[in-house]
Amino acid sequence: MENQFSKKYTNLSALLKGYRKHGKCLAAFNVNDNYDLKAAVDAANQQDTHLMVMTYPPVAELVGVEVFAAMVEGVRKKAKHNVYLHLDHSTSIELCKAAVDAGYDSVMFDGSHLPLEQNIASTKEVVAYAHKKGVVVEAEIGKILGREVVVKSDDDFLASVEQVARLNEEAKPDLIAVGIGTAHGFTPEVPKINFKRLSEIAAVVETPLVLHGGTGIPDEDIQKAISMGICKINIGTVVHTTYMKYMGEGIQAAGKSAYPPFIMKEVLPKIQAVIEDRLRVVNSAEISG
Ligand code: 13P
Repeated sequence: MENQFSKKYTNLSALLKGYRKHGKCLAAFNVNDNYDLKAAVDAANQQDTHLMVMTYPPVAELVGVEVFAAMVEGVRKKAKHNVYLHLDHSTSIELCKAAVDAGYDSVMFDGSHLPLEQNIASTKEVVAYAHKKGVVVEAEIGKILGREVVVKSDDDFLASVEQVARLNEEAKPDLIAVGIGTAHGFTPEVPKINFKRLSEIAAVVETPLVLHGGTGIPDEDIQKAISMGICKINIGTVVHTTYMKYMGEGIQAAGKSAYPPFIMKEVLPKIQAVIEDRLRVVNSAEISG
């Protein structure tokens, strides 16, 4: 079926540039194995949309980038629209290169903890390697809050407009994740997005921007951010906590007869429902944006 999400853009870079122009956004979900990967593809099929799945470095290392890339190649045959595979938050240039070689569509080099010069130099190295194979690179500047990130002031985590512009001009990434107040995971307080900073950044940089910490961001803030230049949103914690909760309950209920596929058959629709819910929010912003 031909619709706005048909397999028109095989090239992710072109898709994202188009999204930046038209106020659209690609929803990207952290997955860990074949089960949540299947739930994500089923959700995207149900919602008739493109999808990005992402592996964090511990998953990429444990499962192996070649194995994950092969699994995604497999599920693409069942997908109605594009399924892109991304390496998320790699602080290792070598892991980025390995993912590129394995066939990932996109890799993130996270140099947000590095001094700017070093972040630019390392991102540049990943870009040079990835672009030779047509792979997209996401850079990061500013800090995403939550987990072990401790900040002392706004200057400590907010992406500075000048630094984003320099990273963009000198390293030429395809996507830039900007620290604008969001946090990874469930947070005690609702994260406050600094929309002023987002608009200042979007005014000077045409490169598609990325919002991390999708789990805790209220729906209306997600949609507002998309209308201001966010073209990719990362959603992770709500997926794996749903997975762990229902799997744990299934194991407990089954006791000694616990058998993975029987339990996962019950868990998969729960994960799929969460992903469908997030896809609806992201894609309805696309239509109104
Ligand atoms: P959440 O875990 O808050 O959804 O954030 C995911 C993320 O930003 C991955 O890069």
